[in-house]
Amino acid sequence: MRWHFRSFAKINLHLQVVGRRADGYHELRTVFQTVDLHDVISIEPIASGIELVVAEGTAPAGTANLAFRAAETFLATWAPRAGARLTLHKRIPVGGGLGGGSSNAACVLRGLARVLGVEPDPAEVWHLARGLGADVPYFLVGGTALGVGRGDEVVPLPDLPPQEVWLVTPPIEVSTARIFAAWAGSGGESLDAALSPLLTGAGARSITELAGRNDLEVVAREQFPMLEEVYSTLSRAGASCVRLSGSGSTVFACFAAASAGEALSEVLPAGTRVVRAQTLDRITLQERFCSSGAVGG
Ligand code: C5P
Repeated sequence: MRWHFRSFAKINLHLQVVGRRADGYHELRTVFQTVDLHDVISIEPIASGIELVVAEGTAPAGTANLAFRAAETFLATWAPRAGARLTLHKRIPVGGGLGGGSSNAACVLRGLARVLGVEPDPAEVWHLARGLGADVPYFLVGGTALGVGRGDEVVPLPDLPPQEVWLVTPPIEVSTARIFAAWAGSGGESLDAALSPLLTGAGARSITELAGRNDLEVVAREQFPMLEEVYSTLSRAGASCVRLSGSGSTVFACFAAASAGEALSEVLPAGTRVVRAQTLDRITLQERFCSSGAVGG
């Protein structure tokens, strides 16, 4: 039997760099938010080994693919006699700051448990996720959540109400490592005070009200003039909030009027991908995780 799972993207409503860590990573305070843009991963049990098929879009092959590595570690740890064929339908832009690869890895960890009928200890799954990448543990939680440490110590927050957000991905390749390496800020010790109402579910009820920031934005805008163009175009179009997701290249924007973003593709740099998305809360996310029907939705 073949199972289909939705692997949702994220945006960072806030990304504060506190400083450099001894392990070479950066200490973060970030607020993640799931959006409904998703890849679909089909999983089918096979006699042995792992087969990875990319049926739509592009993704690295073999161990260069985080979903493949997730399956490899999962099977080695919890089902050494089983095998799996993974078919990826990639819709989340690769290298766009939307966590596509990390989301796929978490999706495979959860999906394989369901397909093979194993119930691994959640703490061990979390540990394994952490070893795969700094963003992977967040995707085991989803919704509105706070990430500290490398971004991999994740605390679920009261979900923000669902809202529309435009995901604007210009055709540039941004290296996360390069953007972090160029960060030269002084950071700060604790979570920005503007964010504290979020911890209790009081105060901000929308992304715009939340008033987050992204400390990597300055670096990314300096290195990529096209991002500068995207920011000014979105601001001119009347966006109430324009912010980089992760280390980019995706910039997300909110508009007060529902139709305001519709003509964006015509005024943005050629080749820019524009997706009108909705944020998702944790309950909806769980409901939509497993898609029993066709791959389409
Ligand atoms: O963990 P992941 O592979 O997604 O991180 C990619 C790169 O981004 C790391 O190798 C590191 O250079 C940088 N990074 C960082 N601090 C973080 C997360 C990522 O410096 N908290």
